[in-house]
Amino acid sequence: MNNKRLLITGGAGFIGANFVHYTLKNRPEYQVTVVDKLTYAGNPDSLKNVLDKIDFVTGDICDPELMDKLVSETDIVVHFAAESHNDNSLKNPRPFIETNIMGTYTILEAVRKHGKRLHHISTDEVFGDLELDDPNRFTETTPYNPSSPYSASKAASDHLVRAWARSFGIQATISNCANNYGPYQHIEKFIPRQITNILNDEKPRLYGEGLNVRDWIHVDDHNNAVHTILEKGTIGDTYIIGADNDHTNNKMVIEMILELMDKPKNWYDHVTDRPGHDMRYAMDSSKLRRELGWMPQYTDTNGMREGLQQTIDWYTANKDWWQSQKAVVESGYREAGEKVVDVPKA
Ligand code: NAD
Ligand code: DAU
Repeated sequence: MNNKRLLITGGAGFIGANFVHYTLKNRPEYQVTVVDKLTYAGNPDSLKNVLDKIDFVTGDICDPELMDKLVSETDIVVHFAAESHNDNSLKNPRPFIETNIMGTYTILEAVRKHGKRLHHISTDEVFGDLELDDPNRFTETTPYNPSSPYSASKAASDHLVRAWARSFGIQATISNCANNYGPYQHIEKFIPRQITNILNDEKPRLYGEGLNVRDWIHVDDHNNAVHTILEKGTIGDTYIIGADNDHTNNKMVIEMILELMDKPKNWYDHVTDRPGHDMRYAMDSSKLRRELGWMPQYTDTNGMREGLQQTIDWYTANKDWWQSQKAVVESGYREAGEKVVDVPKA
């Protein structure tokens, strides 16, 4: 692949910005254009060191004229842009319907018209959740059963991509990935919220009992998988991406962060639970490993510990990137009714 042009939607967000950095470092053959609306979740500072190496367009993926132009000028579209936070989707679903469904539709129409390759980034949440004692993991054939407005809108976007592939023959692949962590993640999300609380000498805040399980993957492992699919994936296929790091929020994640940050392991508050809170996600990424030879780097408890330490170091060294947002994020949670609750610690 020589000098292929890559259009990255949502490249000022968490995974998209990491994808830009990963691509410039590991796939220098690509010419990168980013389109991002710069919502509250998009931070141009995440790309400030590479702005001279990419084309950056501030714009909305729901704008048909803009997307028609940008798609006509590229070879490949990697579509990250989305409203991404479940808690926000419970407060105000509209932007999730607009961006995640209408935005994806707008991109699909441009891709169809210009005959370009599309990779659509999606989530494990489209499958709903598993019971704690269920031995199964999500696979590419697990039926869709989303719980929140966010996950329902992502499920809708996946269905649109599949329909455009089948009915119009567009050259598309889809990936459904587990929970990402790493640098540049918005501090509304679980892991950076707790790290930045501790850095501000505030206790971490755990929803409900904290028994929920998430399957964690380092963002670089996710982005390496996306490049693997771009290079070797079968057009029309879906790939599950996961690193086999399913851990409870309380024991594994909060306690590991507290230990790595030299705090007592019970130094956290239980707060109001999320309505409709999915209990457990677990991913079976054997198809991606078997067919395309992908392997994650940050696996098992040691890999998670290494990735978390690197993430803690990044938030510690980059207070300028997040400190100005902290009060706004925390008051948003309190305005939404989050309160400390009395739950015996497990
Ligand atoms: P994010 O919220 O950090 O970033 C989203 C980016 O999209 C922001 O830069 C925002 O400005 C931009 N954006 C939003 N609406 C837009 C619009 N209408 N037009 C153009 N840009 C717009 O999200 P993230 O965590 O980086 O997630 C990226 C993608 O990965 C999403 O599609 C999400 O569903 C998916 N995903 C995320 C995770 C995770 O753990 N974070 C896991 C699996 C899949
Ligand atoms: O699984 C992939 C999904 O992971 C992505 O599609 C989403 O875009 C991404 O936001 C993430 O969704 P979650 O809802 O799982 O992530 P979040 O970081 O919001 O929460 C992770 C877990 O931690 C979840 O069980 C809720 C809990 N939680 C979250 C916050 C913000 C807490 O206990 N305390 C908190 O303060």
